[in-house]
Amino acid sequence: MNSKPMRTRDARVAPVRGKLEQRLADEARFFGAWLDSPKSMGAVSPSGRFLARAMARCVDPASDGLIVELGPGTGPVTEALAARGVAPERLVLVEYDGAFCKLLERRFPQAQVIRGDAYRLRDTLSAFGGRKISAVVSSLPLLTRPDADRIALLDDAFALMGPEGAFIQFTYGLVSPMPLKFNLRATQAYRGAVSNPVWLNLPPARVWRYTRADATATQVIAHLRPRHDKPAPFEAFRRKQVEPALALLRKIADGPRDGRR
Ligand SMILES: C[S@@+](CC[C@H](N)C(=O)[O-])C[C@H]1O[C@@H](n2cnc3c(N)ncnc32)[C@H](O)[C@@H]1O
Repeated sequence: MNSKPMRTRDARVAPVRGKLEQRLADEARFFGAWLDSPKSMGAVSPSGRFLARAMARCVDPASDGLIVELGPGTGPVTEALAARGVAPERLVLVEYDGAFCKLLERRFPQAQVIRGDAYRLRDTLSAFGGRKISAVVSSLPLLTRPDADRIALLDDAFALMGPEGAFIQFTYGLVSPMPLKFNLRATQAYRGAVSNPVWLNLPPARVWRYTRADATATQVIAHLRPRHDKPAPFEAFRRKQVEPALALLRKIADGPRDGRR
């Protein structure tokens, strides 16, 4: 007699149905959060698994130190990071929305969930002072924030990670979501590399990976192409023409400094 337990059709279907139910519940949660706060959500549904995987592939699971995820939402990227081999104890999840934080705590009990503002990164991560951070993986809707806030976020992230870190960000846009081109200092300080569009995501998206220009250990990530942004033409014009002219005008307006006034 065959004593092997027979897997019934229901037993095979149940995990698939469970996944589908979870996916639909996440879609509903996400859409509800978007209705409440469209600007801070930036999307009407969670990232699909192909985009989440493309994000996770930018992280080296063998690196040591913490991996900080900004705006994990319902956790598709977190799941992809764990599937890539990042130990959940190394994950720090920074999320603004309280309901998502509770959900993340249930789904990833070994990860550290912080309810806080990613744009105040040093304060938000103050409890981890002194711990090494090797990558910051962000799904924040950056384009809803002014250029200066985005560059400040990149600066803060690298101040915490050190020169060998990596900042990973997806975007639905065609150009770098970090406006490096329009900030001369940032153009010189950082390098970006971009993936091909992830077509199997709604809407299709690209993944950017930023590193410091002076990093010594440059990791080549197969699915990314380096993009060396040059300063925008106006930036060069501003530096070469506008700034010297303004300096001259300021000098004239200040008048002679030899006490004749
Ligand atoms: C586009 S959703 C991405 C969610 C998820 N990572 C995904 O890919 O489906 C953006 C997420 O960032 C969160 N968020 C927005 N602004 C934030 C901030 N300043 N600090 C922390 N989280 C923020 C939102 O609550 C939301 O969960």
